[in-house]
Amino acid sequence: MTEWQKTDWRNLPRIQMPDYPDADALHAVEQRLASYPPLVFAGEARRLKAQLAAVGRGEAFLLQGGDCAESFAEFSADSIRDTFKVMLQMAMVLTWGAKVPVVKVGRMAGQFAKPRSSPTEVVGGVELASYKGDIINGFDPDPAARTPDPARMLQAYTQAAATLNLLRAFSTGGYADMHAVHAWTLGFTGAPEASKYRDLANRISDTLDFMEAAGIRDEAEHVLQTVEFYTSHEALLLEYEEALTRVDSTTGQVLAGSGHMIWIGDRTRQPDGAHVEYCRGVLNPIGLKCGPSLTSGHLKALLQKLNPNNEAGRVTLIARFGAGNVGENLPRLIRAVREEGANVTWTCDPMHGNTIKSSSGFKTRPFESVLREVREFFAVHNAEGTIPGGVHFEMTGKDVTECTGGVRAVTDEDLSSRYHTACDPRLNASQSLELAFLVAEELSARRRNLAQAANG
Ligand code: PEP
Ligand code: CO
Repeated sequence: MTEWQKTDWRNLPRIQMPDYPDADALHAVEQRLASYPPLVFAGEARRLKAQLAAVGRGEAFLLQGGDCAESFAEFSADSIRDTFKVMLQMAMVLTWGAKVPVVKVGRMAGQFAKPRSSPTEVVGGVELASYKGDIINGFDPDPAARTPDPARMLQAYTQAAATLNLLRAFSTGGYADMHAVHAWTLGFTGAPEASKYRDLANRISDTLDFMEAAGIRDEAEHVLQTVEFYTSHEALLLEYEEALTRVDSTTGQVLAGSGHMIWIGDRTRQPDGAHVEYCRGVLNPIGLKCGPSLTSGHLKALLQKLNPNNEAGRVTLIARFGAGNVGENLPRLIRAVREEGANVTWTCDPMHGNTIKSSSGFKTRPFESVLREVREFFAVHNAEGTIPGGVHFEMTGKDVTECTGGVRAVTDEDLSSRYHTACDPRLNASQSLELAFLVAEELSARRRNLAQAANG
């Protein structure tokens, strides 16, 4: 096989990507981006890959989460901080349940480009090109805003750089202190509706107090006050990805410099398509969305293409079948992986198979369906003897009303009050944390069963 080039994807069928009307303007943007610094460093992507390998072995658990689509208009320190904060709280609760480290990966600092089910939509009787994410076109329903504009890539790069800068500052600058994180969670479990989670929160408090009393805090100051936090996004807009591709000077390997982990969407995972071609050549960990239409044959072909050396941590399979559909899809894909002898890390996205239209007309996701899909994912892995490695959520730290249900029950009628998403409905802070508690219970039960089986 001839050596991979970052431009090879251009010779293959591409879908879901924009047709830019001004080729010169596009070229100028690509050249500028190509001259800018990468956002992440190869050593970081390798470190995440090693941690995802541990997830695949059941020695760590993956929490991936953030906006469906980051937006230029909603860009602020507060929204970054709030999402980061809830993810740390969730990670602490999950660590308690799993008794292994939680690998934290944001859908942040690059999650701008969206595949859409239809290329056009009708707004107020007028047919318009669909909104494809702020890196491609504008949300406003007018033809000028919906025309793809390459200059948006520069703004996305700037926003991603500033987001990553703040995340790095929060991660190491003292904000992530474990005691502070737990204090926020106690605020949640102090509310009457959430009191059923208080027992677990109190047990975490006891542990932290014990560590303090035993003097472990001084010893482990650094560990308790800093976190590792990684970024990820769907590698949909390949002009952007190509322009940020860099050669790692220490190894000569190629890095997607746009984020630590990139994933291939459920609509763009054709084994001979442009997106798979780009991703196969970079060293980053690669996610692959696995929906009901993924055949065993395609999965095998994709595993061979994306991970010919069968490197652990390289491929994370993100199952997103929808509640009620896991039982008929996940076992056949687990079998395909087994037949290949492939190293993979399994995680569950219980969002994208559970989107419905509410009676009030909003695109929403019922908390119950999200939880049910996670439970089905665990049940199948428990039955198959494979590892349910993690969860992947569309979520925000803000108090939005986009998904229904949860202890602070959001109803169909509530959806209109704070429905802010630029794309799919996200779990709000309370719903996210509640899910973490429920997933922690699944993890504890699994640990108990495994221990029993080992002793029995
Ligand atoms: C997404 O993660 O935002 C997404 C579009 O997912 P999928 O490709 O699984 O539909
Ligand atoms: Co989405």
